[in-house]
Amino acid sequence: TLIPVILSGGAGTRLWPASRAAYPKPFLPLADGQNLLQKTWLRAAALPGVERLLTVTNRDYYFLSQDAARSLGRELGCPQHYLLEPVGRNTAPALALAAFYAAERHGPDSVLLALAADHAIDADERFSAAVALAARLAAQGELVTFGIRPTEPHTGYGYIELGEPLDMGGRRVARFVEKPDAVTACAYLEGGRHLWNAGIFCFSATTLLDALARHCPDWFEAASAVWQASREQSEGDWLQFDAERFAALPDISIDYALMEKADNVAVVPAEFGWSDVGSWTALAELTPADAEGNRVRGEAVLVDTHNTFIQGGSRLVATVGIDDAVIVDTPDALLVAHRDRVQDVKKVVERLKRDN
Ligand code: GDD
Ligand code: MG
Repeated sequence: TLIPVILSGGAGTRLWPASRAAYPKPFLPLADGQNLLQKTWLRAAALPGVERLLTVTNRDYYFLSQDAARSLGRELGCPQHYLLEPVGRNTAPALALAAFYAAERHGPDSVLLALAADHAIDADERFSAAVALAARLAAQGELVTFGIRPTEPHTGYGYIELGEPLDMGGRRVARFVEKPDAVTACAYLEGGRHLWNAGIFCFSATTLLDALARHCPDWFEAASAVWQASREQSEGDWLQFDAERFAALPDISIDYALMEKADNVAVVPAEFGWSDVGSWTALAELTPADAEGNRVRGEAVLVDTHNTFIQGGSRLVATVGIDDAVIVDTPDALLVAHRDRVQDVKKVVERLKRDN
């Protein structure tokens, strides 16, 4: 069986002030009223062979998540289980615990499809074909990544160097480099031998656990102990990880912990539409533009305004003679940024953290 594992415990600081610790990116409603988490669930539930969803998130987001699931109602058509973290320890511990859970409940050979809860993906037949190939490779013991053709030297992504083609389809990963510096990213882009890591992974529970035991011996036993201490801590649709033991795990992503180190990494080049919605301009793309290039959510009056994104809150927003801006209004904070500088919104969050 194929079990989607939806990771939705991150914070997304580049979408401040709408995305915050208390209300992060997966829960931001889009133009059609659904949020990215709901869209991720629907996309996963629609894949062939999927009978259940597993969502790993912080326990603080359990009720928000449940509300999101409830409002989809029968549209989801798939039972949902939650693995709840007492604190965020990034994606490697989250996936390790998901693999322990799946191995015990659904068998060591169950294939996991790890999905970020905050990506926008065109879930057409190219997506299901890529997942089907990934699941076949995963059943053969591969750690499968999905590769996106890069369009800029983005330093916030993992880069996958393409190796030889595999018999079943897809390619060997010659080398995986997480978040390279700008000079390296430029060289990769020009070289034409690299793809971006989409942040979607596919592996069997046992393949992941074996690889972690080998490449992360410093914390694998501790993760196993978290599972042993937590396996009974469940009620209804959730299971909660032992707080003290889980907090002692390192804060590390699966990219650094494993993908950079393992040699049984494969990549399925992805032809489907993909955005990690990593900035306000990426989020704005999900709202259609008017003739002036403006994208507006909420109530706004625009005079001589071009290529501007406005997300209003409870009050009217008016602009006069404004070009290339991003304006996001919330009850307790207002963001006004140049559209070319939206990557730096995270600096606002850093400054606020430092000053408080
Ligand atoms: N449950 C849980 N717990 N989920 C988490 C945690 C955690 O502690 N931390 C992050 N996540 C979730 C996020 O909500 C997101 O859905 C996903 O895991 C990826 O985490 P990000 O923090 O967004 O990772 P990233 O964007 O810096 O990098 C990853 O994604 C890129 C593509 O968007 C990497 O895989 C890169 O290699 C990749 O290019
Ligand atoms: Mg991300």
